[in-house]
Amino acid sequence: MTQGPLTTEAGAPVADNQNSETAGVGGPVLVQDQLLIEKLAHFNRERIPERVVHARGAGAYGTFTVTADVTRYTRAAFLSEVGKQTETFLRFSTVAGNLGAADAVRDPRGFALKFYTEEGNYDLVGNNTPVFFIRDAIKFPDFIHTQKRDPYTGSQEADNVFDFWGLSPESTHQVTWLFGDRGIPASYRHMDGFGSHTYQWNNEAGEVFWVKYHFKTDQGIKNLTAEEAEILAGKDPDSHQRDLREAIERGDFPSWTVYVQVMPAAEAATYRFNPFDLTKVWPHADYPLIEFGKLELNRNPENIFAEVEQSAFSPAHFVPGIGPSPDKMLQGRLFGYSDAQRYRIGINADQLPVNRPHATEARTHSRDGYLYDGRHKGAKNYEPNSFGGPNQTGRPLWQPVAVTGVTGETVTPVHAEDNDFVQAGNLYRLMTEEEKERLVKNLANAVSGVTRDEIADRAINNFRQADEDFGKRLEAAVQALRG
Ligand code: HEM
Repeated sequence: MTQGPLTTEAGAPVADNQNSETAGVGGPVLVQDQLLIEKLAHFNRERIPERVVHARGAGAYGTFTVTADVTRYTRAAFLSEVGKQTETFLRFSTVAGNLGAADAVRDPRGFALKFYTEEGNYDLVGNNTPVFFIRDAIKFPDFIHTQKRDPYTGSQEADNVFDFWGLSPESTHQVTWLFGDRGIPASYRHMDGFGSHTYQWNNEAGEVFWVKYHFKTDQGIKNLTAEEAEILAGKDPDSHQRDLREAIERGDFPSWTVYVQVMPAAEAATYRFNPFDLTKVWPHADYPLIEFGKLELNRNPENIFAEVEQSAFSPAHFVPGIGPSPDKMLQGRLFGYSDAQRYRIGINADQLPVNRPHATEARTHSRDGYLYDGRHKGAKNYEPNSFGGPNQTGRPLWQPVAVTGVTGETVTPVHAEDNDFVQAGNLYRLMTEEEKERLVKNLANAVSGVTRDEIADRAINNFRQADEDFGKRLEAAVQALRG
């Protein structure tokens, strides 16, 4: 801000910012006190709607550096050369809590990353978990309603949470993950990130690969126990946000090593798990992690509202060489995010400083709307035109995908080894005895808050189907707690 006297919004100097204007000493306030009216009116409009999910978060800018050649898989320009760097913005979040909720809670963490590439912004909107609770976007609003506040009690209710999970057995894998040690990261710096969905990479020759992204924390994984988190959440609700800001302020820049799993397109149809089912991982033995980058966070935002609250990520923001997969969840998300932002921030959200392209510019024929900044000046606003306006390229960002059959409300296809429990059971069996004990204890504490037996029994039964021992122990622990 430049130096000089305090002014009104219109730039006129302000004489008195402490006393409003009255009719005589002690008299009522005058409408002609436009400074008072302007201040109260602006104050009344300070908030925008919080994100319907992931409302609570913290962000930072950084740098992505390519460390290995992946040009045989993708023609994305920002991945074209070893050593190439791209500016990024990453917003971490929790899912269920409101804007002012505590950070140290058991909840997945958002890991939303914007690459400001020379071919436009590429948004990878992932989580700190490789899988998710459901596999069809049509279930997402119902799922989130069970995680948020009950319409009658106004609180999160164990009945709703476990009712939905019990009736949606595909959630068993993600719930097992969530109630394990990684369910409460010690900070945003000490957790991994995942693209979670399968995405398409395509190379110059037009060959297609299905990929999954992994961001492994260089700080090491650190988690909080349920007991530690309860204390921290009460003492310092902003713990994770503060930790991130302070680390960057002291030059202790957090970083992640970036990997990709690559499946040649021809292998998708016969892979043992449906590669487009978000409740499943691809075991590394099937598709090993290929290291290709380093992500470092090195600059704090200067204004949280402008740069974090108004940041807008969309899984539909792709660049040439990268595209969606037929994952039904992802397809729903391709619509959901920009639509949410049109409501939450406005139709020109993508042109705010944090959201607009930094390494190129947006050249569209769209115009106007709330808070349009006039950036197109007098340029023509239609195509085709004879005035040298921007033109279509004729080259799609991603390759077409073959489809068969007729339209209909279809169930996600099941591959040879797919069922709702196999990977949850595998995860349980991978745990040490101590990890299993903590998992069962965390889950039992949560399930014991359920008021109806059939809801608790159904939820427990899902874990029994994942692993007999898991189910037995959980049942016993819940019984002990409920008396
Ligand atoms: C069909 C399923 C889903 C739908 C409809 C959905 C919808 C949304 C919406 C509407 C927002 C708020 C966007 C905004 O206001 O800016 C959001 C935020 C977010 N979602 Fe999803 N979501 C889904 C699944 C997922 C999955 C599977 C992941 C991770 C793999 C995910 C990660 C995130 C993250 C990280 C944010 C916060 C982005 C930010 O920091 O601004 N969501 N989601």
